[in-house]
Amino acid sequence: MSKQTLGFNRALGDMADALNSDITDSEKLHLLVRAAARALGVRGCSLMLLDAQRRRLFHTASHGLSERYLRKGFLEVEKSLTGILDERPVTILDVATDPRIQFQELAQQERITSILSVPVKIKGEVVGILRVYSRTRREFTAAEVQFLITVANLAAIVLESGRFEEAERQPPEAKGEPSFHPTPLTSQLNPATFAHPSEEEFARLLDFYQIEWIYEPRSFALQWEGKAAEMFTPDFYLPALDLYVEMTTLKPGLTTEKNRKVRRLRETHPEVNIKLLARRDYDRLLAKYGHGPLAGAKTHGVGRVLLSAPQVQKRVRQLAKEISHDYEGRHPVLVGVLRGVFCFMADLMRYLTVPADVDFMAISYYGGGSGKAVRVTTDVGISLEGRHILLVEDIVDTGMTLSFVLSHLKARNPASLQVCTLLDKRVRRLADVHLDYVGFEVPDEFLVGYGLDYQEEYRNLPFVALMERKSSNKEPQAKNYLG
Ligand code: IMP
Ligand code: MG
Repeated sequence: MSKQTLGFNRALGDMADALNSDITDSEKLHLLVRAAARALGVRGCSLMLLDAQRRRLFHTASHGLSERYLRKGFLEVEKSLTGILDERPVTILDVATDPRIQFQELAQQERITSILSVPVKIKGEVVGILRVYSRTRREFTAAEVQFLITVANLAAIVLESGRFEEAERQPPEAKGEPSFHPTPLTSQLNPATFAHPSEEEFARLLDFYQIEWIYEPRSFALQWEGKAAEMFTPDFYLPALDLYVEMTTLKPGLTTEKNRKVRRLRETHPEVNIKLLARRDYDRLLAKYGHGPLAGAKTHGVGRVLLSAPQVQKRVRQLAKEISHDYEGRHPVLVGVLRGVFCFMADLMRYLTVPADVDFMAISYYGGGSGKAVRVTTDVGISLEGRHILLVEDIVDTGMTLSFVLSHLKARNPASLQVCTLLDKRVRRLADVHLDYVGFEVPDEFLVGYGLDYQEEYRNLPFVALMERKSSNKEPQAKNYLG
């Protein structure tokens, strides 16, 4: 018997043991794909199942592939499965040149050269495919193809027999993969067709802050019913933040259903980080940049005072005391992002007891009509190399501004870099940036005063207030600034 045949026999023995043991179906499938990859000496192996409409395939159990690759998106059946639905094995010798590969660039980055796919059939009906991925160019032998077909049959037995709980989960191997760095803007790489203009606008906002996104990257199986699963496809995945975003801005009637799906996803896939963006949140997000239905409202004004002037001053003094203590013996540079921060910066500075330099920077904002991506319009004048920087912000909302500013400052090689913000609107966070000093955690409301503006108004107020929410009979609710 050849060494390879021995290897196949051993792998099949291990698989039979696994099938007959007291582990979950998901674990069984992971063992199968791992053993198959090892026996064939390939980089990775993945079991992909068809969705209920039989139009798309999603990774269900895999070994040896990065999280990035697994989350790359659907495979569309018509495009990639020539040969699969008519139930034959398919070999792709070189992903770089084969037109059937939908994510060529990613496959190359993953260092995949050849792929072998075989159908997974339950009682004669194709329910998915099993694929192996080879780093080197490889023509699979008849014995190797036969081996993979046998593994596909074993996988079918697991699928058929089980109540298939969380089989769609990623293997532990894939979880430790480092997240990747932003590449060129996603919309250029991946011209998506959006279901709704609000999704497109959201994508443009992310582009502006250079946050890579993938539209409808993958489906999650929420439960397994017979041969197809109830599927949930979040709208966006932000790889650098490892965050899925589901927008419920389409039809208010769908909100309850979406809430249920998001809840269910959190139960079945606790490792998945998902955020629901409701219409109200979304309109407020856009209004901040002067867009959307809330932006043009005329009936705004200052509402309730949230933080009185003495409250603000007291907290600023406390922050200055903490900072002075932590920076004892050092001479930090306070860097502020204009313009909202100027009141806070001026007060904070005056309460510090350590010597400190101060400088400001300004950046463009979304909808400001100054280009497609966020950029520094006025940079810090002094040299930051080897300095201890304390970045001072008025308010951190989505965190997108801050994460951009931080990466800009890091590139200047400071000795240290910390963040102090007066206000933290934590519930709205998308980019999860670390904050070292926080004055107040504030609710999800639009705030003005103490430097914060609404269309350049109200900066001069000595306190922090909410925008007015009052609605009059003449004005429909939706026209009010905060809806
Ligand atoms: P982020 O990028 O979403 O974190 O937004 C940060 C910037 O948006 C802040 O520096 C403010 O200039 C502005 N901003 C966020 N929330 C408010 C608010 O409630 N009132 C006024 N400006 C805000
Ligand atoms: Mg600001």
